[in-house]
Amino acid sequence: MTASNRRFEDRVAIVTGAGSGIGASTAMLFAREGAKVWVVDRNRETADAVCRLIVQSGGTAKAIAADVARLDDMRGMVEAVIAEWGRIDVLHNNAGITAIGGVETLSEEEWDRVIDVNLKSIFLCSKFVIPVMRRQGGGAIVNTASVNGMRPAANRDAYSASKGAVISLTKAMALGLAKDRIRVNCICPGTTDTQLVRGVAARLFPDFDTAKRVFVEKEPIGRIAEPEEMAEAVAYLASDVAGFVTGTALVIDGGMILA
Ligand SMILES: NC(=O)c1ccc[n+]([C@@H]2O[C@H](COP(=O)([O-])OP(=O)(O)OC[C@H]3O[C@@H](n4cnc5c(N)ncnc54)[C@H](O)[C@@H]3O)[C@@H](O)[C@H]2O)c1
Repeated sequence: MTASNRRFEDRVAIVTGAGSGIGASTAMLFAREGAKVWVVDRNRETADAVCRLIVQSGGTAKAIAADVARLDDMRGMVEAVIAEWGRIDVLHNNAGITAIGGVETLSEEEWDRVIDVNLKSIFLCSKFVIPVMRRQGGGAIVNTASVNGMRPAANRDAYSASKGAVISLTKAMALGLAKDRIRVNCICPGTTDTQLVRGVAARLFPDFDTAKRVFVEKEPIGRIAEPEEMAEAVAYLASDVAGFVTGTALVIDGGMILA
């Protein structure tokens, strides 16, 4: 691919939760498509590893260890991007966690942490990025919701609530920011082979093969997704070809919620 037809040539993209899974795949895809990528994760080692992979493949990236649920971390992260690269074109609010349990069994700490990491983080990070995008004349924000935001899962009460709220927040932000040419969309992934899913599987099933069989049974398309497939959806929503797309929740789930 020549530099001229890369989708994000000379753009600056922030990806949170980029040390693993969907975020790592998105960061690497953005970089292949010409973006300078700010790799944000609370895990410094994995953030550094993704950054190294990008740089070794000829891309441009910086890694930062930060907690997306902390206001000071997000303010500092955005200031660092501006000091380094002077602009922000794309923000992928992707970091997320889950907790197994219903209202009766989840602790207050588990509830608060899931809501803070999955939902409040989008408020905190976008708060500092939006003024930058507005000054530049526009930008694209892509949030990671989940099919569980549309079809909640039993025993994932905090997770389902957080992802439903991510979809609503995405739509509210899209409406409020359209006049500033800032588009805001979200993806709703179905089951995707990442550490998050493997962690849940390890707690509920004897091994990952058994878990996978159960996951695949719910998938009309007959398999679970790879993180790269989510990255492609994020790249579409963040790119210029989606210039008329805002406030959408793009479901990428192999048909699961229809079944
Ligand atoms: N994997 C799936 O099946 C699936 C389905 C629907 C939605 N999602 C969503 O996709 C997103 C990415 O998840 P994934 O599946 O790639 O999981 P993952 O565990 O592979 O990656 C999540 C990353 O986020 C980071 N992170 C967690 N808390 C953080 C914090 N407070 N601050 C900064 N970084 C933090 C983790 O260190 C990790 O690197 C999440 O929002 C998740 O809810 C995943």
